[in-house]
Amino acid sequence: MTNRIIDPSDDQPQDPALRPRNLDEYVGQTAVVENLKVYIRAAKNRGESMDHVLLAGPPGLGKTSLAYIIAEELGVEIRPTSGPVIERGGDLAAILSSLQPREVLFIDEIHRLNRAVEEVLYPAVEDFRVDIMLGQGPGASTVSMPLPPFTLIGATTRAGLLTRPLRDRFQIQFTMDFYTPSELATIIQRSAGRLQVKTTTEAAQEIARRARGTPRVANRLLRRARDFADVEGDGEIDLGIARLALGRLGIDEEGLDLNDRRVLETIATKFDGGPVGVDNLSTALGEERDTIEDVYEPYLIMRGFLQRTRQGRVITRLGLHHIGQPSPTSLFGG
Ligand SMILES: Nc1ncnc2c1ncn2[C@@H]1O[C@H](COP(=O)(O)OP(=O)(O)OP(=O)(O)O)[C@@H](O)[C@H]1O
Ligand SMILES: [Mg+2]
Repeated sequence: MTNRIIDPSDDQPQDPALRPRNLDEYVGQTAVVENLKVYIRAAKNRGESMDHVLLAGPPGLGKTSLAYIIAEELGVEIRPTSGPVIERGGDLAAILSSLQPREVLFIDEIHRLNRAVEEVLYPAVEDFRVDIMLGQGPGASTVSMPLPPFTLIGATTRAGLLTRPLRDRFQIQFTMDFYTPSELATIIQRSAGRLQVKTTTEAAQEIARRARGTPRVANRLLRRARDFADVEGDGEIDLGIARLALGRLGIDEEGLDLNDRRVLETIATKFDGGPVGVDNLSTALGEERDTIEDVYEPYLIMRGFLQRTRQGRVITRLGLHHIGQPSPTSLFGG
């Protein structure tokens, strides 16, 4: 699809300047943060490694940021890697055996680990040991190597794709929620401060309202609004500039962009409103199934524009209304 500003998964070089550095700077996700504070303090008081943590939720909600913050608050180093990068069991064994006591191993996109690598991970997280195969065939033997206690933090946009045994090994599991407009407004105000661009309260609220519940999107919209403020205004982001920028980016009143609306329109017009299977939808849109499920759907579902049913995806009455299509019942005067 087109180069979408809203695509929360498109991971360009991150903005270290805008990343929250500790739990106090981490806005929202209150339930997660409050519990984490307890677990972190308890682990520190005991001088032990913290239990393993799984962070699940749609792209751009702050999983990676939170992993770094946990390490920071624990006062230990973080070793970041990701599911698709670790190709062989030996790769993971090498990483594991280089860990220092109580360090954090962060595996992003942990649902994409392959089976062989997962097999190495199980004993590591369960008993802090790694089993290494020596030789091949009938003469092969394994030696077990102890590891220092460490904390595994796994992040995933698709908790449902984790194998059961892997998921069960995380003693702490969090699911991140979309942010409220007022939480996003706070994030935008803080980012505006760091970017040194004057932003009115109304402008911050307007961008927040249309940022898909996602901090990464909010920050990106803020940057674009700053461009419009510099070029078409006097450098300050006021309500007029915010609206101008959002309009020029094709983001509508509900915060949907062209591609979100294309998903809804395709279901409405090509599939009679659904139900349509995600594979058919993927073909009709020319878009990866994963992208549809990870990026587009969660927000559309949360807002009540789309439903996921056993038979497939269905556009709701609200969704039809939003794209200006008559809902079926209105044909009968309903
Ligand atoms: N709670 C928060 N408070 C303030 N800013 C946040 C918060 N969460 C995220 N952000 C901002 O959003 C950006 C994206 O967050 P992050 O990279 O942590 O998301 P993610 O969940 O790891 O996304 P992905 O699934 O794509 O890896 C951060 O760089 C930061 O600027
Ligand atoms: Mg991330």
